[in-house]
This record gives sequence, structure tokens and C-alpha cells, in this order.
Amino acid sequence: MTTNYSSVIYPGSFDPITKGHEDVIKRSLNLFDKVIVAVARNSTHAKDSLFSPYERVELIQELFDGQERVSAILFDGLLVDLAKELETLVIVRGLRAVSDFEYEFQMAQMNRYLLNQIETIFLAPDQQFSFLSSTLVREVAALGGDVSGFVSPLILTKISEKS
Ligand code: PNS
Repeated sequence: MTTNYSSVIYPGSFDPITKGHEDVIKRSLNLFDKVIVAVARNSTHAKDSLFSPYERVELIQELFDGQERVSAILFDGLLVDLAKELETLVIVRGLRAVSDFEYEFQMAQMNRYLLNQIETIFLAPDQQFSFLSSTLVREVAALGGDVSGFVSPLILTKISEKS
């Protein structure tokens, strides 16, 4: 397989994409030529979803409109199969705190078990985003709280259109 080490896959649920995710994308752009944001269609959080997977992809595309180095796609099935298909064998994930480590380490090891050539790298988002998660944004927004500090204005508008 010809491997593309100039691109990285950033997988996740992104429901919705937060400023923490955007920070990881920006940091990834310092290391890679291209960032492929891969939205998993079958997320573990599917039952409490705010945006459909397709809407999330559209939001990310709109957010990074004009930024040719960032693309967003929807994927089904295993992440390693997507990596093979894209010939991109590096995955990036944000690591906010020690509490993220166990889950992230399990996923990295499982992905390596499934595809030995895959490498997962972890980037620490800016400290101001260390407590931020899409789950909390969804919850606070659903209860009428202010999430303007946690998502970009475009996403904020789309959230308000949902409620
Ligand atoms: O943002 P999330 O919900 O923590 O992202 C989790 C995600 C989507 C990266 C993970 O569930 C995933 O890779 N799903 C695709 C299915 C898969 O490959 N599962 C095995 C990897 S451990």
C-alpha cells in the first residue's frame, strides 16, 4: 500500500464540532498537509444526538469552507478500513485530561490490533478547552444555557435553529 504520511484522519462523533475540536484541527495542520475529519455514522452517542451525522459533516465543511487543507467525510464501519481506503495511516485524537487516556489508549491499541501499520497520535488541546465536550455542549444547549464560548458562531446559530 502506498501510504500518505502528509495526511491525518481525525475521527469522532463531532455532535457538534466544538472549539476544542477546531483547536485539534488547527494544531494538526501544523504537522500535516491535510486533515480529514471523519464523522462516524454509528456513534455510541447516537440516541442523544443533536445533529444527524450528515448534518455534522455539512457543518464541518461549512466551518472550514475555503480551507482546502481540511475536508470532512462520513464513514461507516471500522476506522481502520477507512484508513486503508484513504491510504492514510495516521489518526489524530485530542487528549484533554488523564481521564481521556484509558478510552483513547484502548481505541489506539484496538486499531493497531486490527491494522498493525496504523499509528495514533494525541494532541493536547488548549487548556481553556480541557473540560469541554460535545456531550456537555448538547446538554447545556438543550437546557437553555449559553454555549457561545464553546462553539463557533456558525454552530451556535445552527444549534439555536434546532431548539
Ligand atoms: O468522538 P468519539 O465519539 O469519542 O469518537 C469515537 C470514534 C468515532 C472515533 C470511534 O468510535 C470509532 O472509531 N468508531 C468507528 C468504528 C471502529 O472502528 N471501532 C473500533 C475502533 S476502537
